[in-house]
Amino acid sequence: MKNNNSYYITTPIYYVNDVPHIGSAYTSIVADTLARFMRLDGRDVKFVTGTDEYGLKVERTAAGKGLGAQEYVDQISKSFRHLAGKLLLTNDDFIRTTEPRHVKAAQALWNRISDRGYIYKSKYAGWYCVRDEAFYAEKELVDGKAPTGADVEWVEEESYFFALSKFQEPLLEYYASHPDFIAPNSRRNEVLRFVESGLLDLSISRTTFKWGVPVPGEENHIMYVWMDALTNYLTALGFPDKDVEIEKYWPESIHLVGKDILRFHAVYWPAFLMAAGFEPPKRVFAHGWWTADGQKISKSLGNAIDPLPLIEEFGLDQLRYFMLQQMPLGSDGDFSRSLFIQKINSNLANDYGNLVQRVLSFIYKNAGAAIPQAEDLTSEDQILLESAHQLIDKMRQAADIQATHKMCEYLWQVIGDANRYVDTQAPWALKKTDVLRMNTVLYVLVDVIRHLAVLSSAIVPLAAEKIMDQLALTVTERNIAALNSPLEVGRALPEPVGVFPRIQPLS
Ligand code: MSP
Repeated sequence: MKNNNSYYITTPIYYVNDVPHIGSAYTSIVADTLARFMRLDGRDVKFVTGTDEYGLKVERTAAGKGLGAQEYVDQISKSFRHLAGKLLLTNDDFIRTTEPRHVKAAQALWNRISDRGYIYKSKYAGWYCVRDEAFYAEKELVDGKAPTGADVEWVEEESYFFALSKFQEPLLEYYASHPDFIAPNSRRNEVLRFVESGLLDLSISRTTFKWGVPVPGEENHIMYVWMDALTNYLTALGFPDKDVEIEKYWPESIHLVGKDILRFHAVYWPAFLMAAGFEPPKRVFAHGWWTADGQKISKSLGNAIDPLPLIEEFGLDQLRYFMLQQMPLGSDGDFSRSLFIQKINSNLANDYGNLVQRVLSFIYKNAGAAIPQAEDLTSEDQILLESAHQLIDKMRQAADIQATHKMCEYLWQVIGDANRYVDTQAPWALKKTDVLRMNTVLYVLVDVIRHLAVLSSAIVPLAAEKIMDQLALTVTERNIAALNSPLEVGRALPEPVGVFPRIQPLS
């Protein structure tokens, strides 16, 4: 049964024409952060990622390497799974489009659309871009190339068509009645302009190559790769065999995508779903692009950055934090090694790490290595405790709109407040003059650190776990609801260890 506690979040399924880079790692990190946060908040989460393995692009890449397509996709899909493990993604499923369950789902969706009269056979004559796996109208070409700059080729073949033009009005109505469907707003406007300018029927099958899902009953046609790929969001819910998860999670779905693939998710996908009698997903959020030292990351420029050595060298939390913090809602983010190191040292080591370390070491050495007892609270104490408590709602609001950089910003505001509080309250001085007050200050700080650790566990899961261990929190205390219970005074605390080491820049 659906209740508004369900939360379904997906990444795009990644093309296996190349090994992963930080751009693809990013979408996964954002999705994982939101999935973790929602679980912390007691939501019933389903988080799905996977690989998109069919299509001409993949077929040609495999051939170029002298490998059979299946052999090749098995290899590359493994590297995405491996990365998911290294990123500690908490995905509940990993879909591969070459799996029988997916082929079955794609064919079932096709049949539903066809049975409702939205698919017809005709001839396609027009431009196709293999790199984008997209058809382009003549008017969209720029200097004879796709608007993305990639080469196009002329295609003329028998093809099935999806009656996309019939969905122009229903889509515009849907956008108007669901203003939150496409985010951020700037991108919503782009989609609206595109749909308002008129929709042509879409060619959805190909006959000139074989690497794809066969069209039901038409073995020499294979499905347009986007039509098959988009269906993965239903495959993961057990479509067409099981209804339980569809009822529970659909249409409570949030699709995270890069801005380059918004059109497929915000125009084609809801149209396919409407045609099949499903509701469109709840939201499509399009993030910006990563650039490297100011330049767009691309294979041809040779500046693709592999996330694995970065995790090896700097740590997973460090990479997750940097990427989440560095990409503001709707804009592009720049990856620079020197900025990365600078953020690790200032925001993680100096601000967060140091706060935890100095407070917990002080308690360990000077306050009986246990949660101290608080006496009367001053207004400074109350203000800081209140700001830690308000952080819960602020983070919820940011997570609701996928503003992961805001989640970081709010956390670090409280970290900054707590550090200033340590400086002004100076527990080391109180130790000599007023031990009761010192204990109160330490109690306030432990409670604030508890809030920070629980809430930041969606962003920096490894460090947050270590901090929660150092606060001696039990497993059932490591969630948002548990923050409403007071700390247990007198509970013994283990010897603290640093959680965010400083990095020495090489040059
Ligand atoms: N296979 C399709 C998606 C099908 S979903 C039904 C695809 N795959 S992709 O591997 O090319 O891209 C996957 C995701 O990675 C997209 O969201 C894309 O925007 C993202 N990124 C790829 N390079 C990127 C950057 N340099 N920066 C940020 N994200 C980018 O499209």
